[in-house]
Amino acid sequence: MSAPHDQMMRFRLTDQYQQLKSALHRHLISLIEDRNLEIDLWEPLRVERFVSEQVKLYVMQQRLPVNQRETEALATDARDELMGYGPIQGLVDDDSVNDIVVNGPNKVFIERAGKLSVAPVRFVNDAHVLRVIQRILAPIGRRVDESTPMVDARLADGSRVNAIVPPIALDGPCLSIRKFRRQPLTGADLVKSDTLSQAELDYLHERVRKRANLIIVGGTGSGKTTFLNLLSRWIPVTERVITVEDAAELRLEHDHVVRLETRPPNLEGQRAVTARDLVRNALRMRPDRIIVGEVRGDEVMDMLQAMNTGHDGSMTTLHANAPKEAVHRLELLAGFAGYAGSEANFRAQVASAVNLFVHVSRLVTGARKVMSITEVYSDGTEALLLRDLFRYDIDTEQHLDLRAAT
Ligand SMILES: Nc1ncnc2c1ncn2[C@@H]1O[C@H](COP(=O)(O)OP(=O)(O)OP(=O)(O)O)[C@@H](O)[C@H]1O
Ligand SMILES: [Mg+2]
Repeated sequence: MSAPHDQMMRFRLTDQYQQLKSALHRHLISLIEDRNLEIDLWEPLRVERFVSEQVKLYVMQQRLPVNQRETEALATDARDELMGYGPIQGLVDDDSVNDIVVNGPNKVFIERAGKLSVAPVRFVNDAHVLRVIQRILAPIGRRVDESTPMVDARLADGSRVNAIVPPIALDGPCLSIRKFRRQPLTGADLVKSDTLSQAELDYLHERVRKRANLIIVGGTGSGKTTFLNLLSRWIPVTERVITVEDAAELRLEHDHVVRLETRPPNLEGQRAVTARDLVRNALRMRPDRIIVGEVRGDEVMDMLQAMNTGHDGSMTTLHANAPKEAVHRLELLAGFAGYAGSEANFRAQVASAVNLFVHVSRLVTGARKVMSITEVYSDGTEALLLRDLFRYDIDTEQHLDLRAAT
């Protein structure tokens, strides 16, 4: 970053600048109201010109001690404030940023190339954060307030947004945006960034085409959905695929794809459509394969059943930090779903339903790795056994191919 750029960034964070910005914002709003301007119907360029002119005028009239660069910054921010996502508009536009997290007016973080850092922007106060949240949600017909303090949604551009506000969020409104990647990561990208080896990629490709049932396991933000997307795109286009997601993120280019999305309950707590409803319905739609974005509730039994009853090649993700843990998590979810059989029976069911676990992880360095590709099987005595076919060795930073060893 150049020195003037740094200075500019620091200036933007000062209270003086924030006060100036809100005064300017109020000025513009009253101007727009006085003149009855319908600027939300204007072309972006026209808005930009209008704001830029008005800001220059305002700076002159008020004899503000700001230079030309600062005036330009004010104009950009004023425009974003009127039209866009306010202080985070620049981050939304920056393709190198993949996640934006707002934990309050002065705590904005971004993730870039796997690294989380403080973003050089801030909001005026809680009300400001809330206003921007509402503006993001309005076009998709959603809003947050005391009675609906949590929203998880997908924007028109495919980005995923989560907002949570008081009284549930104790320290003020919070916003998380996981940006939609215009170009999904390809297998070649992931090999290049050493997320996995070429041998692993080839192996997974082969197994997906041959209709292995697989579960991608990993922690929050480890790359599960990214991986599921990659694997699903290898499904031959002649096959009929049904996807079930809470907020549709997968992007398949199949003719025979039917995308289903769950629906949260309405204000009376009714009319929810759950993942379980959708998986059951999907089974009646003659799918070749079913892809469930994430198994996290009582749909687990239906999904395992689907995998066990001729829908080979089905895939999902699961929140767990290792394949072994994934088995426990499946047991736990099955318990919640009312499964009353024995543990051995359940494990046998998992072993016959699932062929592979793919464990993905985000290392402390920020790098994403396929930690293991693990086969799930049964030898007749043990109901369920796990065997790593590939494993990432953190010490040597090598993706080991263990197939010959087993
Ligand atoms: N191998 C990778 N290389 C670079 N960036 C990646 C990789 N995998 C994922 N990402 C990026 O990391 C972010 C999180 O990825 P993703 O949504 O796939 O994670 P997740 O495990 O599904 O998260 P969650 O637990 O929130 O559902 C995304 O912005 C994605 O673009
Ligand atoms: Mg995900």
